[in-house]
Amino acid sequence: MSDRVERAKYGAAAVAGLKGSLPNPYPRTIGPNALKYLQEVLESGLTSNIMMRFEQAFAKEMGVRHCIATPGCTPALATLASAFAFEPGDEIIVSPVTDYGTVQGLIRENYIPVFADTAPGTINLSAETIAPCLTDRTRAILTVHKTGLVCDMDPINDLAKKRGLIVYEDVCQAVFSEYKGRLAGTLGLAAGFSFDSEKTMGSDVGGCVVTNDDQLAERIRFIGHSRGGQMQPNFGRIHAVPGYAHRMPSCTAAISLAQLEIIRPNVAQRDRMIRLLADLLAEIPGITPLPIPDYQTVYSCWMAGFSIDPAAFRCSADEFAAQAAKAGLTGAGTGRYYLMPAALPFLQDRAQNRVYPYSTPPASRTYAYSAETCPTAKAFLETFIRWSTFCEKYEPEHCALAAQIVRQVADANRI
Ligand SMILES: Cc1ncc(COP(=O)(O)O)c(C=O)c1O
Repeated sequence: MSDRVERAKYGAAAVAGLKGSLPNPYPRTIGPNALKYLQEVLESGLTSNIMMRFEQAFAKEMGVRHCIATPGCTPALATLASAFAFEPGDEIIVSPVTDYGTVQGLIRENYIPVFADTAPGTINLSAETIAPCLTDRTRAILTVHKTGLVCDMDPINDLAKKRGLIVYEDVCQAVFSEYKGRLAGTLGLAAGFSFDSEKTMGSDVGGCVVTNDDQLAERIRFIGHSRGGQMQPNFGRIHAVPGYAHRMPSCTAAISLAQLEIIRPNVAQRDRMIRLLADLLAEIPGITPLPIPDYQTVYSCWMAGFSIDPAAFRCSADEFAAQAAKAGLTGAGTGRYYLMPAALPFLQDRAQNRVYPYSTPPASRTYAYSAETCPTAKAFLETFIRWSTFCEKYEPEHCALAAQIVRQVADANRI
């Protein structure tokens, strides 16, 4: 590989330096007990049970039986993928508009991610877009609640039930969002969360799996925390399955526990502000904010965004976003890179060249990954502008300023 690759940046390295007139989530708001918990970790000589206390507190707040803390959502979902123990070549339906962390574990297990398209006008998949992707090799549906907007889960669960499929959730962007009064993360068999520093419950890095299934929870601890290692009499440790060392560090648990203590007001503020912002954006001709479905009882918004009507403006979405960023809309840009089937050249190559598991068998058919396989999502992202800095620091005056900037750019480019 060339030395000159520009490596992607994440977290504070990607966002903290962005300039603009609107709040930047960095430096992150930190729960008042963080220092106390961190001190406890150090003064205990690393014997503190803080990770277990975080797990119990998060499970209680979510109203679930189990929380298994991990170093991030990528490892959380990788552990889940491993715990499901499907066969190589089995197919998992996934939202097409997401982050690489959603699919990394599936790829490592030699499962085949099948990207269902998004539902028209939204950023999420739906039962209707999933149905045509189902085959006799489909084993699970992994829904991603993009930007904090929850997928319409009841019809997805109905469909899965009819076909005997597992449904599970990627809740990275939707911590404490609610669907018909039920928390995202409790709407399937299990869910993965991220507490990466840029996420709503930003705790440096970190994540977890939640589930009500006792056996699955035990298996996740065995694979994810114990590296699949078990004690054998007269021998010692043997490794029964190829496990991971995906334990959340104590310092992350300390920060996560402190962040959990302030998460509900944080989410409530985001919910209020994104609804206000959406109303203000909707008043601008040619601008459509991301629609908030009626079933979304709490919108824990991680990223604000809107679509532009290409027929209404002289400029492209990229130009619109660049002008908006220059006018102060901190972090405004397009989000084409979120279209996962277009963002994984290595997977495109494997599928095209029938490299395992795309050989036949274990795959049951040929696959192709490209933007064209999800035309609705592709078209949506062509005119979608998001800003990566929406956060709990927003007040009504920031929403008014954001809408004013969008209006100003819209008026300057109107046909
Ligand atoms: C939808 C989604 N899934 C997975 C991830 C990966 O999470 P983590 O960085 O905690 O591994 C992210 C992070 O950006 C995400 O937004």
